[in-house]
Amino acid sequence: MKQFKLNLIPGDGIGVDVIHEGRRLLDRIAEASGGISFQYNELPWSCEYYLKNGRMMPPDGMSILRDCDAILLGAVGFPGVPDHISLRQLLLPIRVEFDEYVNMRPVKMLPGLHSPLKNETMDFVCIRENSEGEYCGKGEWKNEGQPDETVMQESIFTRKGTERILRYAFEYAKKTGRDNVLSATKSNALNYSMVFWDKVFEEVRKDYPDITSAKMHVDALAGYFIMHPERLQVVVASNLFGDILTDLGSAMLGSIGISPSGNINPEGKYPSMFEPIHGSAPDIAGKGIANPMGTFWAISLMLEHLGCKLEADKVMEAMIAVLTEGKALTRDIGGNATTTEMTDAILSKI
Ligand code: NAI
Ligand code: MG
Repeated sequence: MKQFKLNLIPGDGIGVDVIHEGRRLLDRIAEASGGISFQYNELPWSCEYYLKNGRMMPPDGMSILRDCDAILLGAVGFPGVPDHISLRQLLLPIRVEFDEYVNMRPVKMLPGLHSPLKNETMDFVCIRENSEGEYCGKGEWKNEGQPDETVMQESIFTRKGTERILRYAFEYAKKTGRDNVLSATKSNALNYSMVFWDKVFEEVRKDYPDITSAKMHVDALAGYFIMHPERLQVVVASNLFGDILTDLGSAMLGSIGISPSGNINPEGKYPSMFEPIHGSAPDIAGKGIANPMGTFWAISLMLEHLGCKLEADKVMEAMIAVLTEGKALTRDIGGNATTTEMTDAILSKI
């Protein structure tokens, strides 16, 4: 019997609903497999926690969090607490301190999904830098409220951080039999960070002569996502560019509620964290209509990461079965099922 200890952070808004359903899915997987079990440690860290305690997690939060096989997160952020506080005091420290420098985001058209694009052929992976870049949080706010008020937002791109993510993208392509890597840049305007990014890209790509690769300015690349999604295989991008491109990717699958995100520490020194790419969706929070598929797909990525490939595949197959039947879909993908009804349908396929 393999037992996995999971730290769960439901967070805010629909994060709470989708993690609740995610737990049911994991219980069902454990029951069906007979060989694995999950022990959950559910942590109440959220905006509600912040309003009571003045912080998003307790002072020893990171050491509590470290003690597990993987972390599953819903979403954080809610009106009443500024978004930069909720994100910068919870999600970003986990990604950075646990050196989860790879943010893996597949964009794959599953049978039964309907893209808003005419061309529905898409099966690619975005590999987003997750530990530095535009989200380093450094900057300065000068002369607040004065006529010469000025803010500076810095980006940090280190050789270590840049090279390892670019190399990971090529290695990932090699490992998964893909033969093209596209790098998102903007070196025409960002004359330090992206010129450096391109320089390291040039160096790294030389080590992978069997993989075709190119750089593309991120604005043109956004257009390319729409015009030629079938040509994309592996896209590698900085923290900010990857964030934006992957919401686009999920929307191309039909809803932002579908796509997963794996925050990976490839060396396994720290736990990796899995989450849907969407946020806490305050506009539909408490209505019971959130699409749980982004979380289920994230659970599938987590199971694969934990070495349970068979169970990871089972989750995807169950989702696809429900999608193709088309009877228990949430509103965002054209049905009228509730979050729980869709989950029930998926569980019944396992
Ligand atoms: P969002 O992803 O929460 O919502 C964008 C739109 O997509 C909304 O109309 C929402 O109803 C819809 N949507 C999102 N997930 C859905 C689902 N599973 N099923 C059906 N519809 C869904 O992004 P938004 O509005 O920019 O951010 C809301 C809050 O979430 C903010 O506080 C933000 O900071 C936070 N956020 C947190 C993230 C995280 O914890 N990883 C990621 C993105 C945003
Ligand atoms: Mg995002």
